[in-house]
Amino acid sequence: MENKKYYITTPIYYPSSKFHVGHCYCTIIADAIARYKRLQGYNVFFMTGTDEHGQKIERKAKEAGKTPKEYVDEIVSDTKELWKSLGITYDKYIRTTDKEHVECVKKIFLKLYEKGDIYLDEYEGLYCTPCEAFWTETQLVDGKCPDCGRDVELVREESYFFRLSKYQDKLLDYYKEHPDFLEPISRKNEMINNFFNKGLEDLCVSRTTIDWGIPVPFDPKHTVYVWIDALTNYISALGYLSDDDSKLKEFWPADLHLVGKEIFRFHAIIWPAILMALDLPLPKKIFGHGWLVVDGAKISKSLGNYKDPRVYINETSVDALRYFLLKEVTLGQDGNFDEEKFLEKSNSDLSNDLGNLVSRVTAMVEKYNNGLIIKENIENEDIDNELINMASSLIINVEKNMDLLKISDAITQILEVISKANKYIDLSTPWLLIKEGKPQRLNQVLYNLVETIRIIAIALKPYMIETPDKIFSQICVSKEIQTWDSAKKFGLLENGTKIFKKDNLFPRIEIKKEKEKVESVENNNVTNNDIVKNKEENYITINELEKVELKVGQILEVERIEKADKLYKLTVDLGTEKRTIVSGLVKYYTPEQLLNKQVVVVANLKPVKLRGVESQGMLLAAGDDVVKLLTLDSNEGSLENGTSIH
Ligand code: ME8
Repeated sequence: MENKKYYITTPIYYPSSKFHVGHCYCTIIADAIARYKRLQGYNVFFMTGTDEHGQKIERKAKEAGKTPKEYVDEIVSDTKELWKSLGITYDKYIRTTDKEHVECVKKIFLKLYEKGDIYLDEYEGLYCTPCEAFWTETQLVDGKCPDCGRDVELVREESYFFRLSKYQDKLLDYYKEHPDFLEPISRKNEMINNFFNKGLEDLCVSRTTIDWGIPVPFDPKHTVYVWIDALTNYISALGYLSDDDSKLKEFWPADLHLVGKEIFRFHAIIWPAILMALDLPLPKKIFGHGWLVVDGAKISKSLGNYKDPRVYINETSVDALRYFLLKEVTLGQDGNFDEEKFLEKSNSDLSNDLGNLVSRVTAMVEKYNNGLIIKENIENEDIDNELINMASSLIINVEKNMDLLKISDAITQILEVISKANKYIDLSTPWLLIKEGKPQRLNQVLYNLVETIRIIAIALKPYMIETPDKIFSQICVSKEIQTWDSAKKFGLLENGTKIFKKDNLFPRIEIKKEKEKVESVENNNVTNNDIVKNKEENYITINELEKVELKVGQILEVERIEKADKLYKLTVDLGTEKRTIVSGLVKYYTPEQLLNKQVVVVANLKPVKLRGVESQGMLLAAGDDVVKLLTLDSNEGSLENGTSIH
C-alpha cells in the first residue's frame, strides 16, 4: 500500500520585521499544497521557520539595544502572528536557535569532519574591517564595501571547507537518473550550465569572525557558517542524530522543498551533496519558484517597494489575497503584484462570479421554496447533464493539475464550473419556472445548483480558508458531505437541506478608494494596527499638528525614474538645503510645468526609498482624478525658499 505521507517545506526565512507579500507567496503556496494533501488523506508534515544566526542579525540586535536572541524572539512572534492571519497551517516552525537544531548541526559537522568531507584550510576573501564582513568581487560597489562604502582588503582566514567538488559527478548522475528531482527544468538546465560546467569548488563552512552562530564542536573559535546551519534544518526538525528520530523515519525524504529562484542552486547542489555525504536519501523534488515583482523589480525589504500583506488582508480579505497569489502567478515564473489588478480580480472573479452565484442561488431557494431544497426523482435534461458532468469531474481535474504543481490551472478549473453554473441559471430560468407553474423542474434546477455550489466550496478548500465554511453556513450540509472525496460524487445533497441566505461572500471593492488607502498606508509605512486605530480616531490634537513641519520649497530639477511610470525625482530647494523628493506627478505635470514652481513641502517626513531613490519629504497636492500641486501664488509676493508654513 502507498505510504500516504507528505513532507513539504518552505525556506527558513531571515528574521525581518518587514515581511512582504513576496515572503508570503512561498508560504501560501506551500500551505495550499499541504491543505490539498491533507484533504486527500495524506499524513502531512509542513514546515517553515527562521534562519536566525549570522553577523547581520548580531549587528541589528546591537543597534536595537538587544541581545540577538531577544531581537529574533520578538520578530518570530510577529511572524507567527502573520502566518496565523494568512491561515498558514504549518506543523512545525523551526528556529535555527532551537536547542535540538544546534545539537544536530554540531553532530553533523563532526560526522562530516570524521568522514573527511570537512577539512581545515584557508579562506581568502575581500574583508571590510568596520563591518566585519567578507564580500566577493561582484558584491562590491565601485570596488568598496556595499554596506559602508569603505575600502576592503584581501585577507586570509583559517576556515573549514566542505568537499563539494567530490560530489560533482555523483550529483550530475543523480539529476540524470531522476528527471523530476529539480523543477522547473529551465532552472535546472541554467544551473547545470552555469555551475557544473565550470566545476564545483569546495565550500567554506566556518568563520572565525562571526560570533552569533553555532560553534564548531571540536574547534570552538570557529562558528558554523550558513550552509551546514541553514540547510540541515530540514532534517534536524525530524530528529536526525537525536535520541528520537521517529519523525525522520516517518517523513524523510522530503516530498517537496519549495524555494525561491535565487536560493534554488544551494538547494539543488549543496543540499543534495551534504545529504550524499551523510548517506541519507535525497528529497523527491526541489522546486524553484519565481519572484513577486512590482514593475519588473523584485519586492524586497531593501528595494523600497515593500508590500505589507497585512494591509491587503485588512482592506480586502485573506482569501482574496491568497486567491490572487495562487491564481494569478504561474508557479515557477515571476508574477507582477499589481494592486489595481488584485482589486479588479477580487471584484470580477470573487464578488461577481463566485459571490453572486451563491447569493443568487440561495436567494432563489429562499424566495421560491421557503429555503428548502427538494430532491426530485425525474430525468435530467441536457443542460443539467452538462453542469453535472463538469461539477462531478471538478475534483479529479483539480487533482490532475495539483499533482503537477499547476496551482493556477487547478483554480481555473473551479472558475470554469462557477461560470458554467452562472450560465445554467440564465438558461434554466428558474423565475419563469415558478411563473409557469413547474415546481418539479424548479426543484430540480435549484438542487443541481446547490449541489454544484457544495462541490465548488470543497474544491476551494486548499486555496481559501474562510470562504468554504461561509458557504457551508449558507447551505447546511452535514460534515460527511463536506469532505474531498464526497465532492467526487454529484447528488449527495440530502432532500430537505435548509438554506440560509447571507451577504455576498466578497463585498465589491471600490477600487479607486481602496487603492488610495493602500498606497497612503504604504507610503507612510503605517502598520496594520495603525489602520485600525485611524478608522476609530479621526482627530489629531494641535500638538500633533505642530509636529508636521511645512516649508516653502522650489523645484529646481525634474527627472524621470527608470521603470517607474508615475514617479518624478525632484530636486527641491528648501533655502538652507536641497532635498530629493520622489513624487507621483508624471500623469499630471510635464517637467517644464514643474520647474521653478514654489510648492508646499512636508519637510520632516521620515525618508523612504521609492524605486531605489530616497525621498526626503513630500509635496502637498489636492484632488483625486486630477491632482493639482499646492503652489504659492506669486501675486501675494514671493516667499523665500525654506519659509515655515503654519
Ligand atoms: O534566503 N517574491 O531567506 P530570505 C517571491 N534564509 N519570493 C520571495 C521574494 C519575492 N519578492 N522575496 C523573498 C533566505 N522571497 C535563507 C534561506 S533555506 C535553508 C535558507 C523568498 O528571508 C526567497 O526567494 O532572504 C526565499 O525563497 C525566501 O523568500 C526566504 O528568503
